[in-house]
Amino acid sequence: MEPPSAPPRRGRVPWQELLLAVSLFTFWNPPTTAQVTVESVPPDVTVGKNVLLSVHNRPEDSLGYGWFRGATAEPSLQIVSYAVDTQNSTAGPLYSGRETIYPNGSLLFQNITLNDTGYYTVQITKKNFQVVQVRGQLRVIQPVAQPTVHASNTTVTGNKDSVVLTCSTNNTGVSIGWLFNNESLKLTERMKLSQDNSTLTIDPVRKEDAGTYQCEVSDPGSSSKSDPVRLAVEDDRTQPNPGLPPGAIAGIVTGVLAGVAVIAALVYFLFIRKTGGASDLRDVTEHKPSASNHSKDHSDNLSNKTEEVAYSSLNFNAQESTKSTSASPSPAATETVYTEVRKM
Ligand SMILES: *[C@@H]1O[C@H](CO)[C@@H](O)[C@H](O)[C@H]1NC(C)=O
Ligand SMILES: *[C@@H]1O[C@H](CO)[C@@H](O)[C@H](O)[C@H]1NC(C)=O
Ligand SMILES: *[C@@H]1O[C@H](CO)[C@@H](O)[C@H](O)[C@H]1NC(C)=O
Ligand SMILES: *[C@@H]1O[C@H](CO)[C@@H](O)[C@H](O)[C@H]1NC(C)=O
Ligand SMILES: *[C@@H]1O[C@H](CO)[C@@H](O)[C@H](O)[C@H]1NC(C)=O
Ligand SMILES: *[C@@H]1O[C@H](CO)[C@@H](O)[C@H](O)[C@H]1NC(C)=O
Ligand SMILES: *[C@@H]1O[C@H](CO)[C@@H](O)[C@H](O)[C@H]1NC(C)=O
Ligand SMILES: *[C@@H]1O[C@H](CO)[C@@H](O)[C@H](O)[C@H]1NC(C)=O
Repeated sequence: MEPPSAPPRRGRVPWQELLLAVSLFTFWNPPTTAQVTVESVPPDVTVGKNVLLSVHNRPEDSLGYGWFRGATAEPSLQIVSYAVDTQNSTAGPLYSGRETIYPNGSLLFQNITLNDTGYYTVQITKKNFQVVQVRGQLRVIQPVAQPTVHASNTTVTGNKDSVVLTCSTNNTGVSIGWLFNNESLKLTERMKLSQDNSTLTIDPVRKEDAGTYQCEVSDPGSSSKSDPVRLAVEDDRTQPNPGLPPGAIAGIVTGVLAGVAVIAALVYFLFIRKTGGASDLRDVTEHKPSASNHSKDHSDNLSNKTEEVAYSSLNFNAQESTKSTSASPSPAATETVYTEVRKM
């Protein structure tokens, strides 16, 4: 008797190799027979789910199968047996109603409980009455319980308050992740996670942090999300422009003051031109009527017209000066106006 030396087959996990080697060492069959294996599909089954103990390389000349709880074919621990010729299955002492045996020898377990964890043995009887026993293992995992999120305060003030969100779980060794508005939370420089991710601190909280927060705990076999906690972020009413950084506010104030200064300068200039400069203007124009080509036709209202032109020039220059720097608009404008007026 010798253990088999064939290469491992597809889908087999190490423990199965070991168990198979032990089983076949005890119940060795002629080397022409392919190795029979039992595979748990899936390898780790969550409580409440189904699992198939699948028999691979079942001998073609099988007469029947028997499934047992435990590592041996103990009759008192038989779950179910199956006769290939009659396709009859017979319940054993440990049949619970959740097991189904298939013609290929595989056993389906439904609604797995933690108590189903352990070894199972299938005994295959061949036409020559040789028996093969192969062991499989059911690994049942408890899904993680739903965690809960607690917020230090669910209504906070933006740019002022901080908030601490705590994820509570009764499971140990789980990893914790955070969801914001149903999506994986993108950490900003204002957010800090504790070493184990169980607390999320946002300091300071901002308007864009308003929304729903959930934590998700997971272990290799399962995961669970908390109910969402809604965080409301209110404007800070003590600050007039909470959305603008202090620099922008200073910039706006400076701009407004500069604008006021420019307008004040122009108003002052306008006033001076209208009162003090108006007579000069009239003098210049009134001494020119004979020199002008059009003076004969419009000598009566020429003075008024020139005045209008002068004012419009002035207005034009006033607009120009607001566009340029506010350093010294008046002298330039004055000069230009005089030039324009003299052209008349
Ligand atoms: C056995 O039969 C069941 C049900 O038809 C199937 O799901 C399973 O894959 C089969 N197992 C093998 C090893 O063929
Ligand atoms: C097959 O099952 C029927 C009932 O479904 C039973 O009457 C009969 O005895 C069984 N036959 C064998 C060989 O176990
Ligand atoms: C699954 O098993 C649990 C207890 O083990 C039971 O409460 C539940 O009703 C079962 N569900 C189904 C679908 O059999
Ligand atoms: C667990 O299964 C064993 C058989 O393997 C049984 O004796 C025991 O009563 C079961 N326990 C529960 C809580 O179902
Ligand atoms: C939550 O924050 C708001 C805004 O800062 C504050 O008015 C309120 O007192 C806080 N509530 C608690 C329970 O700390
Ligand atoms: C943890 O378990 C305790 C006691 O069983 C329960 O009161 C508590 O709600 C559980 N907490 C969570 C987050 O599941
Ligand atoms: C904490 O969360 C980050 C992602 O935000 C994740 O990469 C890391 O594995 C988590 N750590 C723990 C201990 O859960
Ligand atoms: C998050 O998902 C829940 C349920 O799927 C849905 O009711 C809710 O509107 C979603 N929230 C957001 C912000 O997408």
